[in-house]
Amino acid sequence: MNAIFSRVSVRQFEDKEVPNGLIVKILRAAMAAPSAVNQQPWEFYVTTDKNIIEKLSQVTPYATPAKNAPVVIVPCYRTNDLAAPAMVQIDMAIATENILLESKELGLGAVMLGIAPHEDRMKAVEEILKLPENFRAFTMIPVGYPKNKHSQEDRYEPSKIHVI
Ligand SMILES: Cc1cc2nc3c(=O)[nH]c(=O)nc-3n(C[C@H](O)[C@H](O)[C@H](O)COP(=O)(O)O)c2cc1C
Repeated sequence: MNAIFSRVSVRQFEDKEVPNGLIVKILRAAMAAPSAVNQQPWEFYVTTDKNIIEKLSQVTPYATPAKNAPVVIVPCYRTNDLAAPAMVQIDMAIATENILLESKELGLGAVMLGIAPHEDRMKAVEEILKLPENFRAFTMIPVGYPKNKHSQEDRYEPSKIHVI
């Protein structure tokens, strides 16, 4: 699991396409995630459309890393047929981490851009992607070949561990 200890947020990307096969591997990793009562609430929107990516990059002041990415994955969730609706955003966060880790494993870089639970941001993404009524936008993940190499900082902090 080297990816856990080498993953960093990547916000600058090379101008280079990501092969479809790698995106499928990333989404396979996302769908391998655990979810409450195995409800698998996810729906993944994937775009390489420059116009759509440009619009997505303007949804929040912090979404600009999407602008120079060759592909953006937008993990969404359904609001119907959920056995544990209160757990949905937790499920999506775990699937998102799998996307970040698999991207790293494949030599790619990615960053999670915060959308949910901010209603205004979610609505803005949903309008851009023309999502059906029963789908909600969770986050946005630009993916591409990293322009720069960063090493991960060591955040291990023994004082955060409480043995009782
Ligand atoms: C819930 C969440 C929301 C985030 N939103 C943004 C964002 O809007 N823009 C951004 O550039 N990074 C965003 N990040 C990435 C964090 O800034 C980043 O994970 C953090 O600074 C730690 O750096 P690292 O990922 O390189 O370890 C977000 C991360 C999380 C978990």
